[in-house]
Amino acid sequence: MTDFAGSDFLSEFWHYYIAALTVIGIVFSLWLLKSQTTQKLAEGEQAEVMAPTWDGDLQELNNPLPRWWMWMFYALIVFGIVYLVLYPGFGKYAGTLGWSSYQEWKDDKDAVDAEFEKVMAPFKSQDLMAVAADPKAREMGQNLFMTYCSQCHGSGGQGGKGFPNLADNLWLFGGTPDDVKSSIANGRVGEMPGGMAGDERGAREVANYVLSLGGKPHDAALAAAGKEKYAACAGCHGEDGKGMNAAGFPNLVDDAWQYGGSVEAITESIVKGRKGGMPAQLEALGEAKVHLLSAYVWGLGGGVKPAAPAPVEAASAEAAAPAAN
Ligand code: HEC
Ligand code: HEC
Repeated sequence: MTDFAGSDFLSEFWHYYIAALTVIGIVFSLWLLKSQTTQKLAEGEQAEVMAPTWDGDLQELNNPLPRWWMWMFYALIVFGIVYLVLYPGFGKYAGTLGWSSYQEWKDDKDAVDAEFEKVMAPFKSQDLMAVAADPKAREMGQNLFMTYCSQCHGSGGQGGKGFPNLADNLWLFGGTPDDVKSSIANGRVGEMPGGMAGDERGAREVANYVLSLGGKPHDAALAAAGKEKYAACAGCHGEDGKGMNAAGFPNLVDDAWQYGGSVEAITESIVKGRKGGMPAQLEALGEAKVHLLSAYVWGLGGGVKPAAPAPVEAASAEAAAPAAN
């Protein structure tokens, strides 16, 4: 993806094909011009009337082209040849100036990136909580979020089916600044195998047991039948259903559901399995943008403070009260 200075042609053939077409085009234009300018009217000869007469008296004659017109065409051909010497266009020949659209785009991008780095400089060395407390940084983070993240997580980070809500203070993969930054920089892939509770009925029983663990409305008879089958789940989601944030095993007893918390949705999760994919961003966006985005997302729903709390302003300290999971 880096060296576009060379040719984009897939085979030599296209280079020769384009070059030949170009040469033929130029030679043909020269020949046409010449053929139209060399014939002169002999002394006393009348120009021939070429076509029917239009609009009463409009006639087409075969007079030679005016000189200035002809020279303009020659000048254009010279311009074309000079252009093809300087710039890419003649097959795979790159031109003496070495210009390329890729290089131009890259120079522009480098300039914008350098500008961004300058604006970012003061935030880079600050920890995420300090960045999250800065209104200007939050605004920049929000703009980045709209560009890179909203298509999956929604414009306010509220998520949707299969895409976690980032605006609450419940986290699938942990809510400390480091957890959030790691989710964004490295991506997250949670995979839950399907079919572990047997058929649809078995899954429905376990789903009711899961709801009972969370103290939510459920069918007691089905839940009792599902209790034993839940043993297959406990390894990942825990005996108590609280999951394990750090490993990406979601809490099943809070109110945060990635795929929905109704009996139907939970049953579907169990029958089919689930595989969410959060694409890693570090390589695509760079450290500076990931840092800003992490601060923005961490502050969105009130992130979890790290074990040894650093001083935060009152408002976010309140929002960052220990999360349920
Ligand atoms: C292609 C869709 C998609 C895009 C784009 C995307 N995400 Fe995600 N994101 C997901 C999915 C799906 C998950 C849940 C992963 C899982 O279930 O394993 C997730 C998880 C997360 C988490 C962890 C949430 C938690 O509860 O622990 C964070 C933080 C996050 N995304 C932030 C972002 C940010 C910031 C961006 C923009 C740079 C972004 N995401 C872009 C789909 C996406
Ligand atoms: C190997 C570990 C593992 C086992 C075993 C497992 N799960 Fe999961 N489960 C996961 C992971 C990881 C996810 C998150 C998937 C994602 O991010 O897309 C998940 C997601 C879920 C969800 C969706 C949660 C939501 O927020 O919508 C439910 C419900 C669920 N599991 C229930 C169960 C039940 C019930 C069992 C036992 C029959 C079970 N799981 C067994 C790892 C596991």
